[in-house]
Amino acid sequence: MADIEAVRAFLGDDVDRYRGVLYEALKTDRSYLDRVNKYILGNRGKEMRPLLSLLVGRCCGNLTEKSYCCAAVSEMLHTATLLHDDVVDQAPKRRNAPTVGVKFSPFVAVLTGDFWLSGVLALLAEKCDKKHIILFTNATKKLSEGELLQIDKADNLDTTEEDYFTIIYCKTAVLFETTVKSAAYAVEAPQQVIDGVASFAKYLGLAFQIRDDIFDYSPSMETGKIFGIDLKERKITLPLLGAFKNAPQKREEIISKIKELSETNCTPEREKQIIDDVFAFVNDNKGLEYAQEAANQYLTMGIDCLKVLPDSPAKKMLIEFAEFVCRRSK
Ligand code: IPE
Ligand code: IPE
Ligand code: MG
Ligand code: MG
Repeated sequence: MADIEAVRAFLGDDVDRYRGVLYEALKTDRSYLDRVNKYILGNRGKEMRPLLSLLVGRCCGNLTEKSYCCAAVSEMLHTATLLHDDVVDQAPKRRNAPTVGVKFSPFVAVLTGDFWLSGVLALLAEKCDKKHIILFTNATKKLSEGELLQIDKADNLDTTEEDYFTIIYCKTAVLFETTVKSAAYAVEAPQQVIDGVASFAKYLGLAFQIRDDIFDYSPSMETGKIFGIDLKERKITLPLLGAFKNAPQKREEIISKIKELSETNCTPEREKQIIDDVFAFVNDNKGLEYAQEAANQYLTMGIDCLKVLPDSPAKKMLIEFAEFVCRRSK
């Protein structure tokens, strides 16, 4: 199983080249914005999407200037969505540090997210093909659709498993799929290969988000984020849906407890009690196992799609990376 460091080491200078494009695209004469950008880059994430982009590019051919741009675009778009997401989720912590909304202000987080998003458009327009612009703009639309569907479902507390998969496809897996598709286009891979790696990335993205949703029910894990936020935001994710499947008679009682969480008169003590109760319900009814099993199945389906690629050290690394993504602990 290759962890992030092993993938970075395998890619070597390619990582520096993609980062060079990223820094250049974020340059600004405005010192306040520069300070915010430096804060974000100082608490760098795992860079999963650019690593995936570069690795898939290497599996399909020789990297080009467009490859580095696509990798940078994927990380910039991802970061922009996180800046906005943390405002929507009122998240206090990300990457083991206060979120931009807390450190600066929610306005600053939204506007800096817009700056990163504009950087995406500028980079695509200047350095890439029309095909890349279409891919990434469609992904951005889907991301917003997913986040809004999630809000709609949270308001009504009626998320079904089908809704859940639509949400996570739109808000997370689409960016994985687009990242990989754009990387394959950048090295002019044949259509059959592009389709195969795109399906692989879609399944990997679904597994990745399921794993993230498991984290929210895992207080003992050091993920660099706060756990229990999903419940407070009334997000019904796969661990809870799995537990409902195994104990349908308890559904109504649990849903009414989650409703209580967002009532203004819910005291901190009651909040803690409810979260403990729902966590116990999920644990007792094998919700986490149910979710992990789904992630494992997507991983298997994803790896199966990679048969379009010829064997190579890069392909071996890609498979190991995918396995790591499904078992990661942050
Ligand atoms: C977090 O993504 C958001 C999700 C889609 C679950 P990552 O876990 O890739 O975040 P960073 O960039 O490494 O912090
Ligand atoms: C994924 O949703 C975030 C985006 C795709 C923007 P979450 O809200 O579950 O992600 P985390 O847990 O905040 O990283
Ligand atoms: Mg969110
Ligand atoms: Mg969030």
